Amino acid sequence: MDELEIERFYSIVSRRKSVREFSKKDIAPEKIERLMRTLQRAQSAANRQPWHFIILQGEYREALNEVFTKEGFKDAPVAVVACADPARAWVRKVDNINFARVDVTIAVTEMITAATAEGLGTCWVAAIDPARVKAILNIPDSMDVVAVIALGYAKAPLVAEEKNRKPLKEIIHHGRW
Ligand SMILES: Cc1cc2nc3c(=O)[nH]c(=O)nc-3n(C[C@H](O)[C@H](O)[C@H](O)COP(=O)(O)O)c2cc1C
Repeated sequence: MDELEIERFYSIVSRRKSVREFSKKDIAPEKIERLMRTLQRAQSAANRQPWHFIILQGEYREALNEVFTKEGFKDAPVAVVACADPARAWVRKVDNINFARVDVTIAVTEMITAATAEGLGTCWVAAIDPARVKAILNIPDSMDVVAVIALGYAKAPLVAEEKNRKPLKEIIHHGRW
């Protein structure tokens, strides 16, 4: 990558923020297609791909009123329900950790970065009722509903802003803890 590409990449990444107010403008189908391809090509432990994603848009948008409790999210033109399938995931032998949720989290994070590049606002919403979401969307009991991602055009423009974050020296350790 040349310097200009690198600069553009970081400029896009720095624009990501959690968007909680959406305009009702629809997202072009080719953008949704690119986001789905991004989910598909994400890395996963032992390449197990233990995931399913339900896209709620158009005639399926009604479900947003049931899935989201915060009003702002209900205006999003699209929501993606991300499910992990623990039965398909890689399990680390030494501590029996199942990587289904890690894999789904990675795929969703990549989709969020891609959505930011597409000029879209996103919010990762964990404050849902997974049992209710499963019932409404006919999701098998064996799945874990990891998150619902609200997607759409933000009411306020996406610009890089200062973040309220811990200082690097508090979170980065060199060589040892
Ligand atoms: C795992 C996870 C769960 C989250 N759940 C919610 C949520 O239920 N509702 C919400 O409004 N924001 C939610 N967020 C967004 C965070 O509040 C947000 O990322 C954080 O405050 C930092 O702000 P920023 O995303 O704008 O940088 C969630 C984020 C993550 C990573």
